[in-house]
Amino acid sequence: MTPEKKILCIGAGYVGGPTMAVIAHKCPDYQVTVVDINPERIDQWNSDSLPIFEPGLDPIVKRARGRNLFFSTDIEKGIRENDIIFVSVNTPTKTFGVGSGMAADLQYWEKTARQILEHSDAPKIIIEKSTLPVKTAQAMERILTTNHKKVRFDVLSNPEFLAEGTAVRDLEKPDRVLIGAHRTPEGKKAQDVLVDIYTRWVPRDRILTCDIWSSELSKLVSNAFLAQRVSSINAVSALCEKTDADITQVARAVGMDGRIGNRFLNASVGFGGSCFQKDILNLVYLCRHYGLHEAADYWEGVIRINDHQKNRFVFNMLNAMFNTLANKKICMFGFAFKADTGDTRESPAIFISKKLLEEKAALVITDPKALPNARIDLRGIDQNVRYVEDPYEAVAGTHAIAVLTEWGLYRTLDYQKIFDAMVQPAFIFDGRNILDHNALFEIGFNVYPIGKPALTHF
Ligand SMILES: NC(=O)c1ccc[n+]([C@@H]2O[C@H](COP(=O)([O-])OP(=O)(O)OC[C@H]3O[C@@H](n4cnc5c(N)ncnc54)[C@H](O)[C@@H]3O)[C@@H](O)[C@H]2O)c1
Repeated sequence: MTPEKKILCIGAGYVGGPTMAVIAHKCPDYQVTVVDINPERIDQWNSDSLPIFEPGLDPIVKRARGRNLFFSTDIEKGIRENDIIFVSVNTPTKTFGVGSGMAADLQYWEKTARQILEHSDAPKIIIEKSTLPVKTAQAMERILTTNHKKVRFDVLSNPEFLAEGTAVRDLEKPDRVLIGAHRTPEGKKAQDVLVDIYTRWVPRDRILTCDIWSSELSKLVSNAFLAQRVSSINAVSALCEKTDADITQVARAVGMDGRIGNRFLNASVGFGGSCFQKDILNLVYLCRHYGLHEAADYWEGVIRINDHQKNRFVFNMLNAMFNTLANKKICMFGFAFKADTGDTRESPAIFISKKLLEEKAALVITDPKALPNARIDLRGIDQNVRYVEDPYEAVAGTHAIAVLTEWGLYRTLDYQKIFDAMVQPAFIFDGRNILDHNALFEIGFNVYPIGKPALTHF
């Protein structure tokens, strides 16, 4: 049977894999192919153990794979045989040259554009799924229109708003889908093709259409707003610690105001993940490029507070543990940047580990999904690090626990058993405010939450 639509996605990462799996799942009459330059990643997508952990992803992939979902390294063939092409390659922060440490590194993006051009003989719709600076579609169009073959390309922007850890749920029931297209008859025609795909499972009033530049910018701004809420509440948490106020009470009172809302108001050790920092830096770079230095400074402040929060966490540990961590053993509960993912990119745990190792502490890291990535992140500096999957085994003989990821499992452990296995006096630094602090104090722990008075036995 000929498929109703043939879709390609270039980039089989945290976005490309789940997004295409959900399209294949929702539209069994479409043929969906995901390609990547990384053969190991493709092998994993074709195996029993997928390269990323996302709740609910395994069954969807396994049902659709080989039926209408395919993973391959043959990018050229993919481009030749598909007329709808999503591009979901990585767009990290540039680490060299002009804009180093701020601007997006678009080399993977441009390479893809040139590859699409080289291997296309028929009209194609190209969809930006990666998060990109405003006006990237224009650059892509310029590359694509320098062709002698006279092939027609329509470029759309369709930024992805999924959050890792809830990717499948977010893709199946998105708050909104955003599609940016040129406001020309051809642009609208291309836009309708994409709208058609999403309306298979997303209510039409949740699919927003707009011009390309607004679409590109909306993604950067959404992430900047989310990160700004985290930094705002974290800035207040520092003040709470100085004034004996309680950040949970403050957040509850503030969040019950319907104009503010209660989500993303949990104080913590700081935000991580591959997107927030990168996208804010990108926004800052754009503002500076256009001479909007006050706007740039404003957004940069969000990152400064995040860095400050991570530094404060380490400083509080040092201060509480008698101003020396040398030769002390610290158990880190969690290494992933958030719960329900194995992803550790920009995880606060990386920063904290490095600082603690500089203080000459020994670390035992435990995490249900992120230990393979933790080993990579700390490669070369982990002579004093052990990686232990079982939290009870991990805490044995340690002086302190630092909770760095809000995994549900850490709420339900037997903390009396843990206390008994630790060196006394035992400390807990709850970087996610997920534990029952009074109960821990009753057991005998010295407890240091974020943004609340410490509970100590001294
Ligand atoms: N991770 C998230 O939660 C998330 C959410 C929304 C948007 N985004 C954005 O989506 C984009 C992808 O993010 P990700 O987390 O999936 O990245 P990722 O690093 O997990 O995946 C990107 C993949 O692209 C592949 N790739 C790079 N260049 C290629 C090329 N020329 N041809 C074929 N494959 C190539 C890489 O090998 C990699 O497997 C980024 O722009 C990111 O900002 C990410």
